[in-house]
Amino acid sequence: MKTQVGIIGAGPAGLFLSHLLHRLGIGCIIIESRSRHDVEQTVRAGVLEHWVVALMNDLGLGERMMREAHVHDGITLQWNRERHHVDIKGLTGGKRNVVYAQHEVLKDLIAGRLAQGGEIVFGVGGTTIRDIDTDHPAIDFRRDGTGALETILCDYVVGADGFYGPGRQAIPAVHRNEYQKIYPFGWLGILTRAPRSWEEIIYANQGDGFALLSTRSPDVQRLYFQCDPNDDIANWSDARIWEQLQARLGTDDGWTLTEGPIFQKGIIPLRSFVCEPMQYGRLFIAGDAAHIVPPTGAKGLNLAVADVLVLSRALEAHYKNDSRDLLDRYSATCLRRVWKAERFSWYMTTMLHRNERETDFEQRIHFADLDLVRTSEASARSLAENYVGLPFD
Ligand code: PHB
Repeated sequence: MKTQVGIIGAGPAGLFLSHLLHRLGIGCIIIESRSRHDVEQTVRAGVLEHWVVALMNDLGLGERMMREAHVHDGITLQWNRERHHVDIKGLTGGKRNVVYAQHEVLKDLIAGRLAQGGEIVFGVGGTTIRDIDTDHPAIDFRRDGTGALETILCDYVVGADGFYGPGRQAIPAVHRNEYQKIYPFGWLGILTRAPRSWEEIIYANQGDGFALLSTRSPDVQRLYFQCDPNDDIANWSDARIWEQLQARLGTDDGWTLTEGPIFQKGIIPLRSFVCEPMQYGRLFIAGDAAHIVPPTGAKGLNLAVADVLVLSRALEAHYKNDSRDLLDRYSATCLRRVWKAERFSWYMTTMLHRNERETDFEQRIHFADLDLVRTSEASARSLAENYVGLPFD
């Protein structure tokens, strides 16, 4: 097989990139280790920054999102059994995020790409990247994991293959710097069939720590709370889960959290991670392959899309104007914004979780941070600007 850009990974980074390149008339092929079914069913976070919503619409992929997504003017912060609205829309000159699950975005991107005749090979195995320091890089893989060895010959390789994929590992270790922070807590997340209990996302730090109330549809709600990242989900009966959520989201003003049957539950660890640089020779890495954020700032998918937007502009300049300048600066351009999103995600995570390894002094400082958002417009505006997504500079 031969194409201009060989993409490993059909997650947000790989799929958005394929649409952006198609619009520019640049050829690409995606290979993906998981099945289409697995990609489309994996439950992940669900907040799209305002410009990602606009991009989905620009690419002609926004029709279902505009019908089904829940648009939020703000978020609610909660501590001490009290709620405080942060007017994200008012503080950012009208910008709003929408809640639309990541796997729904992926379904729309995959269907759209296949309808255009785009090539996505699902279920591949044995993926190897080679010759990225020459001008004829290649990707080897086996269809269905065990088929004959096939090769994609391309001009550029994009590793959009997540934290555990081969993309980042293809950058020689001596040229790679990795920065990481592992948090001593994880999130237990559930999906429940119940009506909405509150009109916007609630981020709470109360009782034993963090809880988050989000939504998927008028009848399905998404909730999380912090737990031991090594805990076994089998230890969490539905009754025990609701008890924690009621304690962490409860107020004294008569509000009730409506419970319902829980039909999906799981525990995820929280990590912050950045790989520098995000390119080597003819390889570019994007999304989770290059950086991980804890989900508290809802930045993961949005950062992945930001990377490939930068990359698509650089590839456009390269193919249309024969200029390598933007391609050479891809990593530096992305990392400036990535580190700010890392900072914001770390700030939200630290402020909103109870960390047993911290002193009581530090715990008190987090409540002062929360109260600063309530009382200082500058502080609230800073949170709001980061929440809707910082500009590209
Ligand atoms: C979600 O709806 O899954 C969600 C919302 C906000 C977050 C993280 C996850 O910060």
